[in-house]
Amino acid sequence: MVPSLSSPTMERTIGIGLLGAGTVGGTLVRRLVGESDAIAAKTGLRFDVRRIGVRDVARVRDFEVTEGLLTTDPFEVVRDPTVDLVVEVMGGLEPAGDLLLAALRSGKPVVTANKELIAARGPELIEAAEIAGVPLLFEASVGGGIPIIRPLSETLAGEPLHRVLGIVNGTTNYILTAMTEDGTSYAEALGDAKDLGYAEPDPTADVSGSDAAAKAAILASLAFGTWVGRDDVYVEGIEGVTATDIAFAAEFGYVIKLLAVGERTSAGVSARVHPAMIPADHPLASIRGATNAIFIVGPSVGSLLFSGPGAGGDPTATAVLGDVIDAAREMLAGAQVAPRIRFSPGELASFEDMSTRWYVRLVVDDQPGVLAQIASAFGEEHVSIRSVWQEGVDSEASLIIVTHAAAESEQRAAVARLAAIEAVRDVAAVIRVLEDDA
Ligand SMILES: NC(=O)c1ccc[n+]([C@@H]2O[C@H](COP(=O)([O-])OP(=O)(O)OC[C@H]3O[C@@H](n4cnc5c(N)ncnc54)[C@H](OP(=O)(O)O)[C@@H]3O)[C@@H](O)[C@H]2O)c1
Repeated sequence: MVPSLSSPTMERTIGIGLLGAGTVGGTLVRRLVGESDAIAAKTGLRFDVRRIGVRDVARVRDFEVTEGLLTTDPFEVVRDPTVDLVVEVMGGLEPAGDLLLAALRSGKPVVTANKELIAARGPELIEAAEIAGVPLLFEASVGGGIPIIRPLSETLAGEPLHRVLGIVNGTTNYILTAMTEDGTSYAEALGDAKDLGYAEPDPTADVSGSDAAAKAAILASLAFGTWVGRDDVYVEGIEGVTATDIAFAAEFGYVIKLLAVGERTSAGVSARVHPAMIPADHPLASIRGATNAIFIVGPSVGSLLFSGPGAGGDPTATAVLGDVIDAAREMLAGAQVAPRIRFSPGELASFEDMSTRWYVRLVVDDQPGVLAQIASAFGEEHVSIRSVWQEGVDSEASLIIVTHAAAESEQRAAVARLAAIEAVRDVAAVIRVLEDDA
């Protein structure tokens, strides 16, 4: 039986069912126990963790495990009648998806940190929560300890946002920062990141941009109120970024970051993840190491920067804990919960139509007439050149071209023409350049 708000001076106890007790879940349990008095003093709420679903009940835990607390059947946690609220910190698409649907359909509020699941099945889960009239909260799914989901879906709900930019993966920002500040190669920086625990032994999900893509989908969906799924996000990772291009970027006044970009233009809504050159004085350029940040631009509110720890047990557990308190308050208020976000059908813009400036680095034979051929390749695809820079080494030269904004399809066609020119030995790098107006 869920306690009610009938006696305002009473402390209420909420039964928590936890799905997962790893980095985030384990920290959450310790915090719910260790900070119980402080939480109760501030909120009037006590939380009692009643069941925990894990993979291995024999694993040593860094919290007290009482008889029957752990189970390897996570559905038992959801079904347990003493569990009032379900917290999912196990990760992955399944069984997490079915567990959350089961919890919501049985009228239990849900808190999750699972970006992958929200990006894949957000509308279905949000609809189930709306039908059941219970909250579904996922603050920790993007930016770890940074409050960003609530600002986007509530505080900024009345602002017609047109752009969200994010550094939403700490591993890649750590690597790019090391390459920028120490001049190290990608391989060296990745090795250091692994040694220091900033990168997983298999870093593919981070360096390929896949982790950031799920977050980009969630950010764009909440910012613009049109659902953008994970599969709608264009993704490029940082594997091809070289110290050479980072050094050239610095010379031209830019910094290279892996950005999650959500945009609303006349063509529709879009989300993408790719390395980008941003001006060295852009607020995101100074975000160093494993720190995350989200930069939002709205016509009335102007520019907003949210930054902080994007991962880690404690910061992430703080975001989960905030959601747990929020969900418990709504549950105790007893009313049918109004949805915090609704998605209207809207056009998704094609990535081919996205307009950006490009930085193109070519290795060319240092001979007369090459520049004219290159200029003509761009011209034939309606891409105009903004600046050209050349550095010669013996018979070979590095030619760096920054274009004006043009459609992705035109930029690609121009680069294909460049690759076909005999004097062009290599199209060594292509990086998008983002500025406030393009
Ligand atoms: N770690 C972070 O910094 C961070 C930041 C933001 C968001 N998140 C999100 O938070 C979630 C959890 O991340 P984490 O780092 O805490 O993961 P983790 O350390 O790998 O912990 C996962 C937990 O879930 C349990 N589990 C996994 N699959 C299960 C299954 N099929 N049935 C029952 N239990 C299962 C594991 O059991 P065992 O303990 O028995 O192995 C473990 O306790 C993920 O969605 C992640 O994306 C994490």
